[in-house]
Amino acid sequence: MSQTADSTLAINGGDEAAANLAVPDWPRLSETGRENVIDCLDSTHWCKQYDAATYAEAFEEAFAAYHDADHAIGVTNGTTAIQVALRAVGLRPGDEVLVTAYTWVSTAMAVVLCGGIPRFVDVDPNTYNIDPAAVRNAITDETAGVVGVHYAGYPIDLDELVPICEEHDLFFIEDCAHAHGSEWRGKKVGTFGDAGTFSFQQSKSLTAGEGGIVVMNDARVAELAKCVHWMGRDPGGKLGHILNASNHRISEFLGALLVGQLEQLPEQNARRQANEAVLVEELSGIEGIHTKPRDDRITNRGYFCLNFRYEPSVFGDIDRETFVEALQAEGVPAHLGTHNAEPLYRQLAFVRERLATHVPSTEELPNYQTMHLPGVEEIARTNVTLTHQTLLADREGMEAIAAAVRKVKAHTEELT
Ligand SMILES: Cc1ncc(COP(=O)(O)O)c(C=O)c1O
Repeated sequence: MSQTADSTLAINGGDEAAANLAVPDWPRLSETGRENVIDCLDSTHWCKQYDAATYAEAFEEAFAAYHDADHAIGVTNGTTAIQVALRAVGLRPGDEVLVTAYTWVSTAMAVVLCGGIPRFVDVDPNTYNIDPAAVRNAITDETAGVVGVHYAGYPIDLDELVPICEEHDLFFIEDCAHAHGSEWRGKKVGTFGDAGTFSFQQSKSLTAGEGGIVVMNDARVAELAKCVHWMGRDPGGKLGHILNASNHRISEFLGALLVGQLEQLPEQNARRQANEAVLVEELSGIEGIHTKPRDDRITNRGYFCLNFRYEPSVFGDIDRETFVEALQAEGVPAHLGTHNAEPLYRQLAFVRERLATHVPSTEELPNYQTMHLPGVEEIARTNVTLTHQTLLADREGMEAIAAAVRKVKAHTEELT
C-alpha cells in the first residue's frame, strides 16, 4: 500500500500522493495501423468500394469475427451507427423507443433523428445501466423497442433485459460505444440484441479518432443496414436506390487504421482489467466510495472509463467538486463525468417544439422538462470518473490512486 511522507494535502502545497501514477498518452498508434494507413494512402482505394476488397471491408470482417457475429457494417461514427441500426430493425417515424437516461446524448438523439420518440428509462445507480424492471414498467402499446448502453463497458443485466424484449416483441439495440470487448457469460456484448453499435471516436478504447460500426447476426437486418448506410442502395444491386438514406460509409483510412488498432485491444483490455481489479479492491475498502458490484456473469471487460460514487457525508461533508479538485492535485486525473450537468431529459434539444421538427405524432409529445429519474440524478450528484487510459498505468499507480483517496479523506479538515 503506498504511503506519503508528507501528509499535507497537495492542494495545500504538500507532496502528491499519486506522483508515481504514470498514465500513458491516448490514443496509442499500432505499427500495423500506421503501415496500413500509409499503404492506403499510396493506393488508389481511398473510399470504401461497393463490391471490392478494401480496408473498410477487412475491418468489418475482423470486427465481426472478434464478436463471433455474422455481419458488421462500418459507418462514420457511433451516432450514425445507432441511426443505421434503428432503421435496419424497422423503426418507423412516430414509434416510441425506451432509452437509457444516463448516457451521452447520441443514444437518444439518434432515435429523434430517425423520427422516433425517446422515452427515458431510469438506471440502476449501482451499475449505471438501464434498469430492466423500469423497462418492464415503461412498456406500452406504442413501444417499438429498447436502446440500452453498456455504460463504461459494464454490461447491462442481459439475463433480465433480453427476455423482456422477446416477451413484448421489442427490438433491442445495444449501444456498445463504451464496451469494446466486454462479455456476458462468455459472449461479446453487441450480439445479444438485434444490433450492437460501436463508436471509435478518440476517447474510446478502440479508436481511429472517429468512426463507428454496427454488428448484427440477422441477415435481413444486415441487408437493410447495408442499404441504409449506402444512400438506400439496393443490396442486391439491381433496383438502384430503394430507400431514402444518406451516406454513412466509414472512410477507407479509418478502416485501415482500425484493422491495426483492433489487434492491440485484447492485450490493453487485459491490462485494464488487472488494474481495475486492484483499484476496485482498494477503493471498495474505503467507506464512502461506492464501486460497481462484482458480477461473475461478466466474463470480460471493455472500458470507456471507471466510475465510482462519492458520499460526502463520510468525507466531512466536502462536496464532490472539492474532493475531485483535491484528488487532481494529488496527481489523480479524476473528473466529474463526461455528461452535461443537466440530465439528458432536460436538454433543450428534447423540448416538445424541437422534438416536433423531427417526430411526426398525432398525440401530444412528451414533456421531459419536469421529469425526475432518481437513479440518474443520484449518479449525476455523486459520480467520479477515471478514464480508461488511467487503467493502462501499472499496479503501483492503482495503489497510489487509492492512497490519494485515503489521504484526502484523512485530511478533509484542510478543505473546509
Ligand atoms: C454511449 C454513447 N453512445 C454513442 C456515442 C456516439 O459516438 P460518436 O461520438 O462516435 O458519434 C457515444 C460517444 O461518446 C457514447 O458515449
